[in-house]
Amino acid sequence: MPLLQVTDLQVRYGRILGTNGISFSLEAGESLALVGSNGAGKSSTLKAILGMAEWPQGQILLDGQDLRGSKTSDIVRQGVGFSPEGRRVFPMMSVADNLRAGAFTRPREEAAERMEAMFAYFPRLRERAGQRASSLSGGEQQMLAIGRALMSRPRLLLLDEPSLGLAPIIVERIGEIIEEVQRREGLTFILAEQNANWAMRVAKRAVILELGRSTIAGDCATLLDDPRVQNAYLGL
Ligand SMILES: Nc1ncnc2c1ncn2[C@@H]1O[C@H](COP(=O)(O)OP(=O)(O)OP(=O)(O)O)[C@@H](O)[C@H]1O
Ligand SMILES: [Mg+2]
Repeated sequence: MPLLQVTDLQVRYGRILGTNGISFSLEAGESLALVGSNGAGKSSTLKAILGMAEWPQGQILLDGQDLRGSKTSDIVRQGVGFSPEGRRVFPMMSVADNLRAGAFTRPREEAAERMEAMFAYFPRLRERAGQRASSLSGGEQQMLAIGRALMSRPRLLLLDEPSLGLAPIIVERIGEIIEEVQRREGLTFILAEQNANWAMRVAKRAVILELGRSTIAGDCATLLDDPRVQNAYLGL
């Protein structure tokens, strides 16, 4: 049984369609890039999985269990972590408190141990543990947002546009860290990205979204060589 199965998902914001027919599935331990340009429906898809957007049509199964009607807090308790678009760290809180906030579903003792693991993945966060999150650079805030989402040891991590506005060298570093977490912890993740070139090197499989629909899907290695993908998404 797949860890996550999304079938013909339609997200709506009142009369506006956020997506109109997205399907994909993901096994435990796998990684998936959701690639598409502005407004393609990447964020809407992630928000629907998290119970943060209305989806009048379609089906989302987590471990075979229908998520329709589930509250976001319950979905997070079932092991779904989220690093939102635009990072959204708590600016007035310290780096350490931001991380602690990510472990709210876990026992207190576990949070301290988990924070050590986050500091090992992201050494810059250890150096800045006592500083307000608002004082961090964009790249450091992105690392904090990912670290916060990892604090609960999610079975499925949803990453919305982590590369946005960051220098290429920082984006590469973030990709390496995500791969390292996957190697060490068997993390399953979905990477929603406009930066197709990067996302398809970090994830193993990809689904391309166009105007709210899933179109081409396959192994990233194959798609990176596909002329349709190269022309439309890789700028080649
Ligand atoms: N809160 C909202 N209210 C109304 N319409 C929305 C809302 N959020 C998204 N939409 C619409 O839903 C469609 C899909 O948007 P979505 O944010 O999912 O795209 P995206 O692929 O994440 O784009 P981007 O790369 O710009 O983040 C767009 O047409 C958008 O205008
Ligand atoms: Mg988005």
